[in-house]
Amino acid sequence: MGSIVLFGPPGAGKGTQAANIMRETGLPQVSTGDMLRAAIKAGSSIGLEAKAYMDRGALVPDDVILGLIQGRLLEDDAKNGVMFDGFPRTIPQAEALADLTTITHVLAIEVPDERIVERICGRVSCGACGAVYHDVFNNVPSSGCPCGTFIEKRRADDNESTVQNRLHAYHEQTSPLAAWYQERGVFHAVNGDRDINAVSQDLLGLLN
Ligand code: AP5
Repeated sequence: MGSIVLFGPPGAGKGTQAANIMRETGLPQVSTGDMLRAAIKAGSSIGLEAKAYMDRGALVPDDVILGLIQGRLLEDDAKNGVMFDGFPRTIPQAEALADLTTITHVLAIEVPDERIVERICGRVSCGACGAVYHDVFNNVPSSGCPCGTFIEKRRADDNESTVQNRLHAYHEQTSPLAAWYQERGVFHAVNGDRDINAVSQDLLGLLN
């Protein structure tokens, strides 16, 4: 089996949808955003370099990202493919990825820019288990997070000014990948401006 790419603008719902797709396919999630945040938390040199880019909503340089991905794909659980979340984000990243694994599906979650700010600025996650919620659209259950220990966490880059820069980077550097993958016959788009379950159904339908 090959690998899947979850594609879309910041806040489109890639992380939210990743859980269902992982359950359905058994593929491990590989999120470059999560890997970079772990590197920052660990205080590694990669983390220190990445932080300045992430804080202003710019893309981290390709060589840093590709170094992380090459290492991750050598791990045992990646042997039968993975589900990429937030990678690739530039044409050079996609070209390098083509030499590392076969991409069978690029699943794009399309959400208009005007929806993105409200999604990102209301995002909250559980610091204990990583579950993603939203202040308005996807509340933490009244019984608490299913993991039993809800620790409220908000991302440093989830603010209005950084979101505009992240959207700019998406349109300039990442959105050209849609045509790149269309040419390779693996690109599929769903309307992400709907209820979370409706988006899930469409994404799983594309995989079955
Ligand atoms: P990264 O962590 O990848 O962030 P992102 O792409 O900006 O995506 P997000 O995680 O913000 O959003 P998402 O699509 O996962 O949405 P979510 O499901 O959480 O990257 C962060 C930074 O790292 C980048 O800016 C860059 O600097 C760097 N970076 C990472 N990868 C890189 C790479 N490959 N190359 C270079 N730099 C890289 O949902 C958002 C909110 O909406 C949640 O609150 C959720 O509950 C809610 N929601 C989800 N779906 C719906 C729905 N259908 N309806 C209503 N609300 C919904």
